[in-house]
Amino acid sequence: MSVTAPAKSANPAFFEETVTEVRHWTDRLFSFRCTRDPAFRFSAGQFAMIGLRVEGKPLLRAYSMGSPPWDEGLEFLSIKVPDGPLTSRLQHIQAGETVLIGRKPVGTLLLDNLRPGKTLWLVCTGTGLAPFLSLVREPEAYDRFERVVVQHTVREVAELAFRDMIEGLPEHEVLGELVAGKLHYLPSVTREAFPRQGRAPDLFGSGRLTEELGLPPISPEHDRVMLCGSEAFNADMKAFLEGRGFREGSNHEPGAYVLEKAFVEK
Ligand code: A2P
Repeated sequence: MSVTAPAKSANPAFFEETVTEVRHWTDRLFSFRCTRDPAFRFSAGQFAMIGLRVEGKPLLRAYSMGSPPWDEGLEFLSIKVPDGPLTSRLQHIQAGETVLIGRKPVGTLLLDNLRPGKTLWLVCTGTGLAPFLSLVREPEAYDRFERVVVQHTVREVAELAFRDMIEGLPEHEVLGELVAGKLHYLPSVTREAFPRQGRAPDLFGSGRLTEELGLPPISPEHDRVMLCGSEAFNADMKAFLEGRGFREGSNHEPGAYVLEKAFVEK
């Protein structure tokens, strides 16, 4: 009698991965790492359906991969919604437990969806930072642009998740040389004292961000922008950029900016 090993995934639509690390940033925000099947391939900026099996059925939501494509594991950033069907459970996940990872990564926040330019602005609020955690560690971003700027806006300082990781990239043993002098991190906080305060459209509108970097006002001629945040943030930034002549790019035609909604579970 021959015994065949059980397939790694019981459901061909998902990879079943093991949680390796959980980090709670605030009572509203957490992140977790898990193992990654080598067959799960994605581009920096993409998202996939992530979740848990609940009463035998998969319960999934869209999550951007926060880890870069070269990382052997996967990392995700999530809010905690007390009565959210998925996050009320997912926030209690522990190392050793199983998460489901949908097999098909998708999304528009891709370097290929932007025309060539000089400065790449990664502008986000809250968990909208996730795709940019991947992109800031994607060597291709530094090959294509002279500088990469992360502008993350949150309510409170403690919500500046992965601040140490981003600030430490110039000293990273592999990426450091590529990133040093090219990566700029300009976080902003809206409801607590902080050196940089206010919402992105105001910070851009006043010229503060470009001035801090010694750059001319933002323009579709040399700036490229990726947006990821709440619907209100995306709408306001889109209106601001389009008012300055920026045209949106897509998977069909590259443009001067691209946007994706941060996946907040209602
Ligand atoms: P504010 O504190 O002024 O509302 P949230 O935690 O609600 O998702 O918000 C994350 C960050 O996004 C907060 O700093 C918030 O600022 C900011 N924000 C909310 N709405 C907008 C908007 N329409 N444009 C830009 N930033 C916004």
